[in-house]
Amino acid sequence: MDTYAVVGNPVAHSKSPFIHARFAQQTGRIMHYTALLAPLDGFEQTVLDFRKTGGKGMNITVPFKFEAFTLASRLTDRANAARAVNTFRFEEKEEILGDNTDGVGLVRDIEVNLNFPLAGKRILLMGAGGAASGVILPLLQQQPGLLAIANRTPDKAASLQRQFASHGNITTGHYHDFAGQRFDLIINATSASLHNELPPIPADLFQSASLAYDMLYSSKLTPFLELAKMQGTEHLADGAGMLVEQAAESFLLWHGIRPETQIVIRQLRDHLRHPAS
Ligand code: ATR
Repeated sequence: MDTYAVVGNPVAHSKSPFIHARFAQQTGRIMHYTALLAPLDGFEQTVLDFRKTGGKGMNITVPFKFEAFTLASRLTDRANAARAVNTFRFEEKEEILGDNTDGVGLVRDIEVNLNFPLAGKRILLMGAGGAASGVILPLLQQQPGLLAIANRTPDKAASLQRQFASHGNITTGHYHDFAGQRFDLIINATSASLHNELPPIPADLFQSASLAYDMLYSSKLTPFLELAKMQGTEHLADGAGMLVEQAAESFLLWHGIRPETQIVIRQLRDHLRHPAS
């Protein structure tokens, strides 16, 4: 049987095995998909061991997406631009194809599932780590009116601006630099929600926004979405849809079929509310 895995640290919380099992059922594929915990200093060994035992592909999650980028022997354009990899496909002659499906997952969730076209929109992306860098190119490709990146450490945002300069215009700064500006969409790509924290977001930013999107998912509103709700943002979304969409794109890379996502997003939400299901 073909085997696949998501590798991370920590990884026990990952919903990727749940999602890929639903995709396999739906498309009639016989496959096994597990979660693999790699030691923080043992990512490469974990990957190579998995491939040796017949593994066909992997998803890569926190904190290994940059290491995965350097381990891949061949990269898709979008992975190359992001300098981060969330999908491996093991190929002949020991080649490892590295792809990044996070950005396309986010864009599909926002444009298709949430019916929120990005062209011409003013977007504020919060955070400048791996999660943010994976989504910048696909966001720019939708031709937003403005893409701004705010980060606690502004130098990291400025360095992303330079990295993507040839793909479009980006403004960067600290959170307070954007006080008083109007954005249609505010995306949280920081890891703050993981620790139940909030980036220092200026009080008025959410008032004019029509969509607040937290790339993390949770069974309840994250602090970022709570604040957006309190300040009157009309639409709130967490990253459950993005997670399913990025998984669908990895599934497509491995199996040549794109599974139905809407039903799996509903199943994932039920599962998050009732984890035993
Ligand atoms: P990931 O790969 O998940 O993006 P990362 O590379 O460690 O993880 O990046 C985490 C991001 O969340 C960074 O942008 C970080 O800001 P700094 O670059 O200033 O460290 C941001 N972040 C984490 N906790 C935060 C908090 N409490 N408030 C604001 N930003 C936070």
